[in-house]
Amino acid sequence: MRTKIAAGNWKMNGLTESLAEIDALLPQISDGQTKAIICPPATLISSLAAKASGQPLSIGGQDCHAAASGAHTGDVSAAMLKDAGADCVILGHSERRADHGETDADVAAKTLAAWDNGLVAIVCVGETEAQRDAGITLQVIRDQLAGSLPDGATPANTIIAYEPVWAIGTGRTPTLDQIAEVHDDMNATLDTRFDAGFSLLYGGSVKPGNAAEIFAVSNVDGALVGGASLKASDFGAIWSALNAA
Ligand code: PGA
Repeated sequence: MRTKIAAGNWKMNGLTESLAEIDALLPQISDGQTKAIICPPATLISSLAAKASGQPLSIGGQDCHAAASGAHTGDVSAAMLKDAGADCVILGHSERRADHGETDADVAAKTLAAWDNGLVAIVCVGETEAQRDAGITLQVIRDQLAGSLPDGATPANTIIAYEPVWAIGTGRTPTLDQIAEVHDDMNATLDTRFDAGFSLLYGGSVKPGNAAEIFAVSNVDGALVGGASLKASDFGAIWSALNAA
């Protein structure tokens, strides 16, 4: 069975006081078949990792540079994330692709850096609204998977997150049939090139009220949660819905 994963992406939110959300979250999650991950801003990784130590919560980064080290002002390497206590890193989020011009090739290079440093890569793909309206969603996702995943991807070193760009932070979600269509196609696409068994997360306006129905969709193994991950009560409820699915 594929690992069920509820991952929270805090994006550029969170100060020291946000550690209280982790204190509130820990009693709501338990060890077992459903993994919980929180990806805070880089400034909070080591303090969250200290809180999560010995607890059923993994900590992740939101991006890393492809290079091991060097003259890259403001960037963070995969080794630094690992050193700070991260187990995984989100790569190729659509906000990185849009704000920083990241290409599939950039994402693939960062994925290799993540693996080299023992981090699981959470690789994000997703179509824009214009691409969905043009009827090319599946081809866009196939191309992103082909370009963003290096040879050597396995269910152990890589998690895939399908995040329609138009559903992120908008309160809009695809229909359950639309989610199923993409997840079934991703599953088939990945099986052709790699071993079977990748965990496939859906992301985009997941909240406690829609989590259970999304987790019942075929080939959905969990969620990458933005806004609703900032509140322990919401993220805990999403984790519980996944654990019950
Ligand atoms: P959202 O963000 O849950 O706030 O829509 C999801 C994401 O960008 O990972």
